[in-house]
Amino acid sequence: MSASATLGTAGRAPALLSVSDLKVHFPRPKQGWFKPPEVVRAVDGVSLEIARGTTLAVVGESGSGKTTTALAVMRLAPVTAGSIRLGELDLGTLEGEALRQARRRLQIIFQDPFSSLNPRQRAGDAVRAPLDLMGIGTPAQRTERVAELFTQVGLRPEQQRLFPHQFSGGQRQRINIARALATQPDLVVCDEPVSALDVAIRAQILNLLARLQRELGLTYLFISHDMAVVEHLCDEIAVMYLGQIVERAPREAFFARPLHPYSVALNSAVPTVRGGRARAAKRIRLGRPAEPDLSAAGLSVRGSLPGGRAGLRHRVAAAA
Ligand SMILES: Nc1ncnc2c1ncn2[C@@H]1O[C@H](COP(=O)(O)OP(=O)(O)OP(=O)(O)O)[C@@H](O)[C@H]1O
Ligand SMILES: [Mg+2]
Repeated sequence: MSASATLGTAGRAPALLSVSDLKVHFPRPKQGWFKPPEVVRAVDGVSLEIARGTTLAVVGESGSGKTTTALAVMRLAPVTAGSIRLGELDLGTLEGEALRQARRRLQIIFQDPFSSLNPRQRAGDAVRAPLDLMGIGTPAQRTERVAELFTQVGLRPEQQRLFPHQFSGGQRQRINIARALATQPDLVVCDEPVSALDVAIRAQILNLLARLQRELGLTYLFISHDMAVVEHLCDEIAVMYLGQIVERAPREAFFARPLHPYSVALNSAVPTVRGGRARAAKRIRLGRPAEPDLSAAGLSVRGSLPGGRAGLRHRVAAAA
């Protein structure tokens, strides 16, 4: 399947998020005096759509470009090329006040619930901050809204006075979720939201995210490297490898029969009690994590020099 093809959402709600041929390239420090400048193609032509109220899981190994894709969608990473649309908004080109206003419609939940909270800020103030920042509602309405959000995510309103260290890991992620929901976003990007949590707590947080989606009609871009987690949560799956989407499919189809060899490898690594040893023996070993910043990977690092090869000879010659 071509990496620039668009995830099919035919026959369902119109797409809330449409990303087309997104590229995020980071310049690399020059490796040597005569070496041409290089770029890390962290995201290299990603296209996807997410229908309103559904979840697209983006899976792939470390370094495959999942977080960079998410940050670019949030306009928190530089967009080298491509378009990002959120509903009727051309998010990729917004700047200044228009971008600031658009930000209330998309929020992100990060992996580490502790480092994403300021240790000296009370939980209530953390959840209230986006409302203050965006000037949403009157001060009294904000106070009411924060109490409501605490209840919505399974915390008690009186816990607003506590500091992050006075909560458990799962509770801290609930605070982050409440903060993400404060501005009533349409799209919530979840970047490995349960990876740092105890296994016993993970299901609670995943159930909470599922309930909030049902109640509020949220749309999720859900990043994970854990196939067991996405199997329970997503409607569709996109598999990333070295900055590109190499397969995408509805959940049932993907788990019944992954098509790309890399997806087969990922899928066979899902831990299961059902398959037991026989299934484990059939697992395909995944290779080294993707390393897009190594030239050896070949796929993702390309040098570029004005004037191409001739320019390079010219420069070398001039320097000699
Ligand atoms: N600001 C940056 N400058 C240079 N390179 C970067 C930058 N951010 C990311 N990269 C590179 O882009 C590639 C993709 O990184 P990214 O964090 O998106 O991967 P990931 O799929 O989220 O990995 P993980 O599963 O470990 O979180 C990596 O090689 C990374 O080193
Ligand atoms: Mg990441």
